[in-house]
Amino acid sequence: MRRPIRKVSVIGLGYIGLPTAAMFASRKIEVVGVDVNAKTVDTINRGEIHIIEPDLDMVVSAAVSQGYLRATLDPEPADAFLIAVPTPFKGADHEPDLSYIEAASKAIAPVLEPGNIVILESTSPVGATEAMAEWLAEARSDLKFPQHAGEEADIRIAHCPERVLPGKVMQELITNDRVIGGMTQRCSLTAAALYKLFVTGDCVIASGPRAAEMAKLTENSFRDVNIAFANELSLICDELGIDVWELIVLANRHPRVNILQPGPGVGGHCIAVDPWFIVSSAPALSPLIQAARGVNASKPEWVIDQVKSALGTHLVANPDKTAKDVRIAVYGLSFKPDIDDLRESPALEIAERLCAWHAGPMSVIEPYIDALPETLETAQLSGRSTNIEADIHVMLVDHRDFKGSDRPRGEIIDARGVWAGTPQLYSFIERRRSDRVDT
Ligand SMILES: NC(=O)c1ccc[n+]([C@@H]2O[C@H](COP(=O)([O-])OP(=O)(O)OC[C@H]3O[C@@H](n4cnc5c(N)ncnc54)[C@H](O)[C@@H]3O)[C@@H](O)[C@H]2O)c1
Repeated sequence: MRRPIRKVSVIGLGYIGLPTAAMFASRKIEVVGVDVNAKTVDTINRGEIHIIEPDLDMVVSAAVSQGYLRATLDPEPADAFLIAVPTPFKGADHEPDLSYIEAASKAIAPVLEPGNIVILESTSPVGATEAMAEWLAEARSDLKFPQHAGEEADIRIAHCPERVLPGKVMQELITNDRVIGGMTQRCSLTAAALYKLFVTGDCVIASGPRAAEMAKLTENSFRDVNIAFANELSLICDELGIDVWELIVLANRHPRVNILQPGPGVGGHCIAVDPWFIVSSAPALSPLIQAARGVNASKPEWVIDQVKSALGTHLVANPDKTAKDVRIAVYGLSFKPDIDDLRESPALEIAERLCAWHAGPMSVIEPYIDALPETLETAQLSGRSTNIEADIHVMLVDHRDFKGSDRPRGEIIDARGVWAGTPQLYSFIERRRSDRVDT
């Protein structure tokens, strides 16, 4: 008999955990969120949120005021535990850092009861769910776990990776298909029944947690490799004097070709990180994935070189000026369009490095933040207006506010194709882009 789910605990209340907790609570399930950050816990308990995600504030505020959602620092008993803590990499070899999962497992182990399910949602290297099961088993020798007891286990364990798109999380949490890799068939079925409380997409059951872990890593590596191809093309086209945006439109007219869009690099905490989890598991067998990482990671440097060469051109054309008289305008800092998240952003890296290098004034146009990070304190923040007087314009993020804006006067480095080509070409690119997001 499957124990009914009355109370869900979500461990880690960040970009993934909080929307997930809010979603269960919106279905009138009692949800207790656990986080190690006291400020986050207090903010949520006031019915407020500490991250920007459309519609999340409304759902959290309603769930807290109706008593379905609360946050705490200390885990407490529940029927289901979902772990959504960070999984970064560490060191020069990009080894996965599982310390957050280990800490979360050890924190919930004392409150586990027979009939509970523990689901790892964090993006994880192959084998992480089994490692989590071992940490739980070591802490609770009085309970039976699936790695030893199979279907007779007291605790069910599954991996269910999250693949939502920041900016559309509240919609995609419901509509996306879920891949579920339980350690046994019953683990998978229990996890699927839990997600069906709010998921309208399919719950696809994998052969086990390893396949589910690899599926998530594969999705992001697929995107990384394809973006690397577009980024490599952008370098080749620059060398050959061809407009890469036009090239991609032309090549994509082939019925079986679908090249993604180049950019200033690949950022965020998923696409730039997850391929390393595959590489660290099979370094000798992943040259393509490693090469793609190399191409994407080197793109910010290339954009900076373009700016340096534009400055040289400008000074040659204006011999009465020095670098101190040249204003550089940078458009966008976030790691992708229409969000406020600057984590691992190549645009931020480029802006910071330009700010440290350039002797003259710098403007940053970023509609999604109220204050510049300390590393950019000598720059000026201009909200959303693209009507900026500058000598060099560096387009890094194709925010909604920038699209369709007039090509400014001055030297242009356009890493996102916002000012590329003719209006007809621009609208064609937009139509192709509306079906997919490339970074
Ligand atoms: N953000 C995304 O778009 C996205 C998409 C898909 C998958 N993921 C994956 O989801 C996981 C979580 O990512 P995120 O973006 O939500 O991270 P995040 O940094 O926004 O949130 C993580 C939260 O976990 C908390 N935390 C850390 N250690 C803890 C512990 N031991 N116990 C309780 N709380 C703890 C942190 O304080 C933080 O609030 C990662 O594995 C990430 O790769 C993220």
